[in-house]
Amino acid sequence: MKVLVTGQGGQLASSLIDLAPSGTEVRSLSADELDITDKDQVLQLITTLRPDAIINGSAYTAVDKAESESEIAHRVNALGPLHLSVAASEVGSWLIQPSTDFIFDGNQETPWKTDSTPNPLSVYGRTKYEGEQAVIERCRAPWTIVRTAWVYSTTGSNFLLSMLRFMKEGRALRIIDDQYGTPTWSGSLASAIWCLIDRKIAGVQHWTDDGSTTWFGFASAIGELGVETGMLQSMPEITPIPTSEYPTPATRPAFSVLDKNDTWSLLDGAKCMPPVHWRENLRNVMMELKHG
Ligand SMILES: NC(=O)c1ccc[n+]([C@@H]2O[C@H](COP(=O)([O-])OP(=O)(O)OC[C@H]3O[C@@H](n4cnc5c(N)ncnc54)[C@H](OP(=O)(O)O)[C@@H]3O)[C@@H](O)[C@H]2O)c1
Repeated sequence: MKVLVTGQGGQLASSLIDLAPSGTEVRSLSADELDITDKDQVLQLITTLRPDAIINGSAYTAVDKAESESEIAHRVNALGPLHLSVAASEVGSWLIQPSTDFIFDGNQETPWKTDSTPNPLSVYGRTKYEGEQAVIERCRAPWTIVRTAWVYSTTGSNFLLSMLRFMKEGRALRIIDDQYGTPTWSGSLASAIWCLIDRKIAGVQHWTDDGSTTWFGFASAIGELGVETGMLQSMPEITPIPTSEYPTPATRPAFSVLDKNDTWSLLDGAKCMPPVHWRENLRNVMMELKHG
């Protein structure tokens, strides 16, 4: 099977490349090689390559910056998936479009289902939701939308690496303790996507690691595991604070835990990808960071 992965160098794209199943021919392209906002380039490239599946690893993910760069966020997150949908329809490629928990407003205390009503609070969330709509309305080939959350990996720009840097610098940290979600390793997301493709599971799916916490809980676990793995000499000082004490340009949902039960049972029925608790994956990733 020939699979095109866009956004090479991003967290998800890197994990997709690392964890590609044997027998899969992965062609990955960086933003310089394929700009998904360029409709003609997308069509020309995909009709030439004719992949069996396309995974859109490209996105504008700077949540706060998007508030002042809504035009570029719209082009990447909404028009990009539209262009990929048109091209996938042309050649019959399965299109995988990752999306986000930030399409929900967070105003409930039970996990969001795949058919819960989106109501994004930020430019990032709105443009990602527009990207979903573009796929649903314009893709005539099979498609899968995979919503995920709080993605981290050993590379790129993410909460884990920022926290570790601050902790090593000995900074006193004040971290939000009233926004709930699920930290998710890019590797488990990538493996889930490969399973979804292999088992031909279409439609809107939810995938994160298991469990949930707050940003404070996530930071505390990073501190504890940092000491346990020997990456930190002592437990850093971390103070839990409410969102009101840390104003940001983008408003984030207070509760964005996704209900993964339907996707998990589809994958479990297919004997693929049992969910792993976020803390266990965090420990594994931190061990990997420690040993380089
Ligand atoms: N990160 C999270 O916490 C999170 C949470 C929920 C959902 N998601 C979703 O998960 C998916 C993967 O996220 P990620 O964390 O892997 O993102 P990421 O690390 O920010 O990577 C995004 C990639 O997209 C590329 N890109 C940007 N503009 C592009 C364009 N016009 N054409 C082609 N490529 C372009 C970037 O290239 P450059 O670096 O060269 O700009 C980068 O390689 C995204 O759909 C995201 O919305 C992420």
